[in-house]
Amino acid sequence: MSKTRSLYVCDSCGNESLKWQGQCPSCGAWNSLSAISVPKSAGKTARPLVAGSGSSQRLSEIAQSVEPRLSTGIEELDRVLGGGLVPGSVTLIGGEPGIGKSTLLLQAGDSLSHRADTLYVTGEESLHQVSLRAKRLGTSGDTLRLLAETSVEQVLAEAQAAKVKVLVIDSIQTMHTDGVESSPGSASQVRESAAQLVRFAKASGTSVLIIGHVTKEGVIAGPRILEHMVDTVLYFESDAGSRYRMVRAVKNRFGAANEVGVFAMSEDGLKEVKNPSAIFLSRHPQPVAGSIVMIAREGTRPMLIEVQALVDDSQAMNPRRVAVGIEQQRLAMLLALLHRHGDVATSGQDVFINVVGGVHIAETAADLPAVLAVVSSVRDRPLAQGLVCFGELGLAGEIRPVPYGEERLREAAKHGFTRAIVPAANEPRRPIEGLSVVAVERLSDAIARAF
Ligand code: TYD
Ligand code: MG
Repeated sequence: MSKTRSLYVCDSCGNESLKWQGQCPSCGAWNSLSAISVPKSAGKTARPLVAGSGSSQRLSEIAQSVEPRLSTGIEELDRVLGGGLVPGSVTLIGGEPGIGKSTLLLQAGDSLSHRADTLYVTGEESLHQVSLRAKRLGTSGDTLRLLAETSVEQVLAEAQAAKVKVLVIDSIQTMHTDGVESSPGSASQVRESAAQLVRFAKASGTSVLIIGHVTKEGVIAGPRILEHMVDTVLYFESDAGSRYRMVRAVKNRFGAANEVGVFAMSEDGLKEVKNPSAIFLSRHPQPVAGSIVMIAREGTRPMLIEVQALVDDSQAMNPRRVAVGIEQQRLAMLLALLHRHGDVATSGQDVFINVVGGVHIAETAADLPAVLAVVSSVRDRPLAQGLVCFGELGLAGEIRPVPYGEERLREAAKHGFTRAIVPAANEPRRPIEGLSVVAVERLSDAIARAF
């Protein structure tokens, strides 16, 4: 009898099915299931990821030992983690190759090692390469343990022997476990290796940080399948060529999801950007058409971000609608709204939207800025300098409020903006010094007041 069985994992959401289907039953993606082989025992005995005693207890009877979180020594990283590393937690750090994952975790690992025994396992680089990098980063390195190894069993044996409190795995794609026959990096290996690391973390109380590569298209065997298994998922975001890196918590069992930490890549490693509010503005000497500054809220802080639009005659049968940094579907909806309620047509024209700095804005507050940028480009009329805006659009052409309006406005005033177009319901109760607030209820008003 074979020792493995097949399982089908969706490439786009990581959902597991027992049989192959054309469409993922969880996320609806087509042709996204691929077969992986898993050890039979893992299914039959269903070893749980979290060890349990088997009998139930009252919630109040469970001893609540609140173990202090371990600070990584990097404030921005602690912030995304929700205040430091939780003992026994598993954190996945995903991002494109070369974005800075190894750099960040080497820096964090070094600083953690002064407070707790830390083991950095590299499967990608030689010890020599890692030590060269560590030197460049200016780390003392006299407390951090290094291991070049790709076998999960060996890694765990070493982690146990050295009684480490923090374990860094760089990267999960290079790890392999004896239980699975396929090659490292394959979905089965990644999944089973990670499962072993998770079990180890829960049983030993060691905090495990796992690096996973993600391609531009978003997935290869890796991070997506792991998201379900780990406690916290952090992703690196960046614009090609930009030195800024944002680390976003997309899932966090121990803190706020969507929190971001901002870093700048420098000669000697990643530097924290503690006050990142205005780094995503490009400074135009003169006002230019198709550009507007919005006040977004990234995690728990407001940020000024430039949104750009370009509308141009299309040569294609189907004009293109390309959105970078906001959702593609949302752009289609906004253009329809603009036509119906703002009387600005973009049919027969290509529409491009870009959020400066490689930021991805997930909140609806970007609706109004995106639409105003489009109108500005269509009319080839720049918006006044010193203007900011935010607001959600409803399908009836109404402008809906967004959370933390006043906080956003204060941030804009702090950076010298003088005029803000905002949803009526977000109008601050008391005036904000230096900022004249234009409260609007309908899209047509907003357009009229902006130009
Ligand atoms: P790295 O952390 O190796 O990326 P990842 O592990 O995500 O693949 O980062 C590699 C890039 O960072 C590389 O292009 C060089 C750059 N870098 C610096 O600019 N300064 C530095 O101090 C370091 C260590 C890397
Ligand atoms: Mg690396």
